[in-house]
Amino acid sequence: MNFAISQPVTTDRLVLRLFTADDLDDMHAYQSLPEVARFLYRPPRDRARCAEVIERVGQGTHWKEDGDNLTLAVCRRDTPGVIGEVQVTLSSAYARQAEIGWVFHPGHGGRGYATEASLALRDLAFQQLGVHRLFARIDADNTASERICERLSMRREAHLIENDRDDRGWGSEYVYAVLAREVVPAGAE
Ligand SMILES: CC(C)(COP(=O)(O)OP(=O)(O)OC[C@H]1O[C@@H](n2cnc3c(N)ncnc32)[C@H](O)[C@@H]1OP(=O)(O)O)[C@@H](O)C(=O)NCCC(=O)NCCS
Repeated sequence: MNFAISQPVTTDRLVLRLFTADDLDDMHAYQSLPEVARFLYRPPRDRARCAEVIERVGQGTHWKEDGDNLTLAVCRRDTPGVIGEVQVTLSSAYARQAEIGWVFHPGHGGRGYATEASLALRDLAFQQLGVHRLFARIDADNTASERICERLSMRREAHLIENDRDDRGWGSEYVYAVLAREVVPAGAE
């Protein structure tokens, strides 16, 4: 699989596009928050780490090998600035399996922006990247992300008990997934 990714992606209220160096302050504003990092199994990111990430993900991606990743900055169409990001990572090129994720500034929460952006990325993954099965791994306490999975028509396929740990102790995860044929009209995949 080696797909050209057509971006920016526009939805009713949002634009999804590659990050640029000018987005550093906006990314740092949400990636540095402990409450945002809480369910990501890694510490909050400082400015230097955000700059490294932008340098890497801003170049776009090849969508060919295991580990290839597409990360898109999410902007509101009515206000300048980046409010969050959505990512999709190719976990198996052979089996066309990909993992989706989302991270948003809490100041823009509760208005459906994360759901709207994630739906657009789900459809891009199926229709442009040839993904067969899209999955998400969600901390079992991350109820906001559970609700996003459900709005993406993903089903809960697994409950992994204490399969990870961080400085708060053991963590458990849900695995959610959806197949292309379950949400994409025949012929559009
Ligand atoms: C996960 C995360 C993105 C969820 O944010 P969120 O604000 O709950 O998600 P949305 O932006 O989609 O908003 C959904 C809410 O807006 C409401 N809403 C309001 N207007 C809406 C609209 N026009 N369309 C859809 N939903 C709308 C929904 O009812 C929903 O509320 P509910 O969950 O109480 O039912 C956010 O908590 C986050 O970034 N967390 C940290 C990172 C993280 O944990 N990432 C996941 C790792 S796998």
